[in-house]
Amino acid sequence: MARKLTGSAELLERAQRVVPGGIYGHMAPGFLVPGEYPSFIARGEGASIWDVDGNRYIDYMCSYGPIVLGHRHPVVEAAVESQRANAFCFSLPGPAYVDLAELLVEKTPFANWAMFAKNGSDATTWATAIARAHTGRKKILRANGAYHGVAFWCNPAQAGITDEDTANVVSFEYNDLESLTGAVSKHADELAGIIVTPYRHEAFHDQELPVPEFHSTIRNLCDDHGIVYILDDVRCGFRLDLAGSGHYYGTEPDLSCYCKALGNGYPISALMGREALRGAAQQVFMTGSYWMSSLELAAAVATVNELERIDGCRRMREYGIRLRTGLARQAAEHGLEVRLTGEPGLPFMTFADDSVFERAKLWCAECIRRGVFFHPSHNWFLTTAHGDAELEATLEATEAAFEAVAQKFRA
Ligand SMILES: Cc1ncc(COP(=O)(O)O)c(C=O)c1O
Repeated sequence: MARKLTGSAELLERAQRVVPGGIYGHMAPGFLVPGEYPSFIARGEGASIWDVDGNRYIDYMCSYGPIVLGHRHPVVEAAVESQRANAFCFSLPGPAYVDLAELLVEKTPFANWAMFAKNGSDATTWATAIARAHTGRKKILRANGAYHGVAFWCNPAQAGITDEDTANVVSFEYNDLESLTGAVSKHADELAGIIVTPYRHEAFHDQELPVPEFHSTIRNLCDDHGIVYILDDVRCGFRLDLAGSGHYYGTEPDLSCYCKALGNGYPISALMGREALRGAAQQVFMTGSYWMSSLELAAAVATVNELERIDGCRRMREYGIRLRTGLARQAAEHGLEVRLTGEPGLPFMTFADDSVFERAKLWCAECIRRGVFFHPSHNWFLTTAHGDAELEATLEATEAAFEAVAQKFRA
């Protein structure tokens, strides 16, 4: 039976009258497959979401990362409810603030302190300010195309951004050691920090794991030149390793930025650092109306403890490997060339000869019609709630999706 998306269409029309663009940012309908995807979600449970028309989908975007234990996870909800019963937004922090800082410091081998904010952009921007305060230098080195948020120093678009906003940001090519060392030698005395993601995972691009010497070279360059090494672990944090993705890849940074999976959907980000940066962290003035709200802090304590209890990172990795194996086999059976890239816990698939994501969009459209929510041009996310039933239903949908792509595009 054909899916109805009329509720979504009506809401979008109403939104377009009162919100610029209707839905803005990365959730704008144009980033998916217009007409095929719903625009509004009404509820979630475990690994599933339901749109406002009542259609159910297995969720492979997980709110672009925040949902890591599954929607409405009972342990997280219980922690939140218990805090809510006492109110949570005060003029001073509550005990959960210290509990979370202690928990994260205990889990993160390199870090001696933690501070909290709301979004990934808060944490990455804060990290650059601390690097500048610590070194007395201005410039930040980043990889071309890497996404670090929407602050003006790193916003991927140009509207509303001035040259001055980015005047102290210089770049190199991810995984290109010559480009990295060249940029450092060119700017060494002016560089406050180097910020990188654990691996290359920006949208519209195959994911790339770090080449073996990538992180250790950054570490050595930072040590040699007194530069602060900032790891932007906003997307991968708590999905690869609870000790941090720096630890996972064998090289520890000086500052680490977390967000997304930290609170299983409750808005929280964290910045963690080494002892040597404590003074600079204290000097930089950063705060926000909701940054110390105990609700999200309690959610994060529960999320991290639960991920540890159930060995969540291993579970997501294993599911991701099974998903990837199934997709690779189906693609081959249909004579289609695909690339499955990145870490299995954050899977992604692109088609060969598909620079404008035409095949990927058709494949995603066929999947969403069958109740599986993927993204054509952004990496996907898993939760620990994805299990055998989800995998089986997913592979049934993807089989039909590959068949549709093969029929349209096979030579
Ligand atoms: C690696 C990385 N850094 C920073 C951000 C920005 O986080 P936020 O959207 O919470 O500001 C994101 C968001 O996708 C991200 O993936």
